[in-house]
Amino acid sequence: MSTLLTAEYGVENIVKSFGGAKALSGVSLSVKSGEVHCIAGENGSGKSTLIKIMSGVHAPDTGLIRLGDKSFTKLSPREAVHEGVQVIFQDFSLLPNLSVAENIAIPTYISENSRFFSKSKTKEIAANALDLIGVDIDINASVTDISIASKQLIAIARATNQGVKMLFMDEPTTALTRKEIKHLFEVVEQLKERGVATIFVSHKIDEIQEICNTITILRNGEVVADGIMRDFKRDSISEAMTGLNVSETRIAPPLKKASTKVIEVRNLITKPTFLDISFSIAPGEILGITGLLGSGRTELAEAIFGQYPIDSGEVIVEGESIRLNSSPAALKAGIGYVPPDRLTQGLFLEQSILRNLVAVGVDQYQSRGKRLSKKRLAEAGEKWIKDLRIKTKNSLNPVTSLSGGNQQRVVLAKWLAMNPKLMILNGPTVGVDIGSKREILEIIRDRAQEGMGFLVVSDDIPELIQICHRVLVIKNGQISKEFNESELDEEVLYKELS
Ligand SMILES: Nc1ncnc2c1ncn2[C@@H]1O[C@H](COP(=O)(O)OP(=O)(O)OP(=O)(O)O)[C@@H](O)[C@H]1O
Ligand SMILES: [Mg+2]
Repeated sequence: MSTLLTAEYGVENIVKSFGGAKALSGVSLSVKSGEVHCIAGENGSGKSTLIKIMSGVHAPDTGLIRLGDKSFTKLSPREAVHEGVQVIFQDFSLLPNLSVAENIAIPTYISENSRFFSKSKTKEIAANALDLIGVDIDINASVTDISIASKQLIAIARATNQGVKMLFMDEPTTALTRKEIKHLFEVVEQLKERGVATIFVSHKIDEIQEICNTITILRNGEVVADGIMRDFKRDSISEAMTGLNVSETRIAPPLKKASTKVIEVRNLITKPTFLDISFSIAPGEILGITGLLGSGRTELAEAIFGQYPIDSGEVIVEGESIRLNSSPAALKAGIGYVPPDRLTQGLFLEQSILRNLVAVGVDQYQSRGKRLSKKRLAEAGEKWIKDLRIKTKNSLNPVTSLSGGNQQRVVLAKWLAMNPKLMILNGPTVGVDIGSKREILEIIRDRAQEGMGFLVVSDDIPELIQICHRVLVIKNGQISKEFNESELDEEVLYKELS
């Protein structure tokens, strides 16, 4: 017990470059058993790279990794697991065709070199593991059928079962509701009490203030501040991250009176997801839609873009009724859609940054002979990289070489390039750091001022208040309330949501 309580995990002077570009230049940090340590920093500051080094995924160029009383200059993933390191990856690495129980128990069988897989033992292992972290999930269900939050808890149960001593969570809350986040934090608290050292990465400052005891802040691959969480205020964290004083005040532009609408949605019904939805958006207007996960908010956004079936109703763009249930028709009418899940829906992962940037609006770059003009493509790509401050040394690198938040910018740029009349943004700043978030909201503001209409679907209430002219709350497939500009207030909106 005592060795567990005094164990320390960390790195000393880690340097890591990718093809000449330094991702980490001399980073040191340490975390003790029973501590939740936050790594904060802007997109591309090196957080994920550091986690990959500490868990043996990437080898550092130089530097030392310390796990308990052992030091490593090179660490394999296997050695890391042996020392009790577990990472909750974004996809949770669950096996889709197996049950909850099997997903939790299989690594235990493997580490025990056990030859006997008995159904009852599998269930017993899984039930115990879930019980240990105080989680109630049907162990007989297939993991394909369960929510993201449950998948995450299963991944944690599995890690715990493998004797976790050092747990990494890289942006674990991006796809969770507030209630689910609360539950996750209860589980983290329990692990903490049991002496697990946790490293937690999130761009939501209120979250890290709530759950973390200590913090290291990275900027451009260097530690710019570290210490005890209590000693840091919200502003000092964002200032250390960005080097700037980031304002979180409202930036929605004044809305000009308009007699036209960019879109009218009339009596949209898809049972049982949404029951009767009507609203309209004027040129330059930024309309927010919020609701808990499962409220129908994402389905509504997808339906307007023709990706979710509509039973009845009408979608009218600039006075003309458009063909429903067809993305090409929606696109042609001038609707753009930025999905929330940049990794699976928004990007061509194996292609270059440049290719991704110009993927949707390819026609624009065709010169008269109908051949794509490479020069024009490159120029357009470079312009977007500059305008959206996408952090890359070379636009021909694959898009996967970008940090998470920078991938998000590529998705946004790709759609802005189409110049739609109505842009639907679903979770536009999920996984984006506080400084970049402001920049993305400013891009939305500028476009709105030029007349582009926006439908912003988000569960980030402060963000909606910063950028929207009006916000609709969706509950059980219906608009439960509409808030106009003067009524936008954080507490009131949270109350309506719960
Ligand atoms: N496999 C790779 N190949 C080339 N460059 C990479 C690779 N992985 C990371 N990088 C670069 O290293 C830097 C740090 O990236 P990292 O993913 O660690 O950032 P992050 O702090 O996790 O950002 P985010 O908040 O956006 O997730 C970035 O400039 C990124 O482009
Ligand atoms: Mg990252």
